[in-house]
Amino acid sequence: MNPSSTPPGAAARPLGVLAALPQELGDLIATMQAESGVVTRTLGRRDYHLGAVHGVPCVVTLARVGKVAAAATVSALIHVFDVEAVVFTGVAGGVGPDVHVGDVVVGETLLQHDMNAEPLFPRHEIPLLARSRFDADRALADALAAACERFVAEEGVALAARFSAALPRFETALPAVHRGLVISGDQFVASAVAVGALRAALPDALAVEMEGAALAQVCYEYEVPCAVVRTISDTADEHASTSFSSFLTDIASTYSTGILRRFLVSYRPAQR
Ligand code: ADE
Repeated sequence: MNPSSTPPGAAARPLGVLAALPQELGDLIATMQAESGVVTRTLGRRDYHLGAVHGVPCVVTLARVGKVAAAATVSALIHVFDVEAVVFTGVAGGVGPDVHVGDVVVGETLLQHDMNAEPLFPRHEIPLLARSRFDADRALADALAAACERFVAEEGVALAARFSAALPRFETALPAVHRGLVISGDQFVASAVAVGALRAALPDALAVEMEGAALAQVCYEYEVPCAVVRTISDTADEHASTSFSSFLTDIASTYSTGILRRFLVSYRPAQR
């Protein structure tokens, strides 16, 4: 028997699904309500919603913003709710040269760009863990990327028509799905100078956000598989806050809904 499959008669452990802001969760809680009903537990000023979504037992919650918030939330998911894996969904600033607003980035590796204990430890290294990069679970990242590709193939044209004002590039190109390094820090990056410094320090970074690498560190420490998917809301430059705000209202939720639905419909715990 695959050791990660559920023995007959045993309750399946839930999947943890989280985002920083409500718009980034899409229709997940409403879908849970319609499918199984929702049991909500409040803990540490957060609401954890328990139920089934597209047949998958889930605990869905909002971390709020930043690395501490993400670490505290994922710690509760692991220790209180016994999740078997964690998926983080949301938006990010594009950093890679070919990463555009409306594209999607699936994290393969995550790093905290603001960790710097030099000269005691190399830049970006987490002291006493002897590493700076934390890997997403390969099977989860593959499944998320496949869900993103299906979302773009099935809804890309309609997205381009519906959001043409915010996504003018899509008149000629569909959103791309990228995989690679996602970097996290406790800053909203919003200047050419700041994003240029990140590119110089971390040339392989694709996207910048404020939670993913903290979650990945906690999941590494407790050996819980995790994955991160981010839709690009801005390019972390002087236009970032305007682009982020208009993207968040409508578009972020449409992406999360479409990606998570395709991911959960084909989610199989024993795949991992
Ligand atoms: N999330 C979305 N855009 C971001 C940015 N520019 N910096 C940090 N986090 C983000």
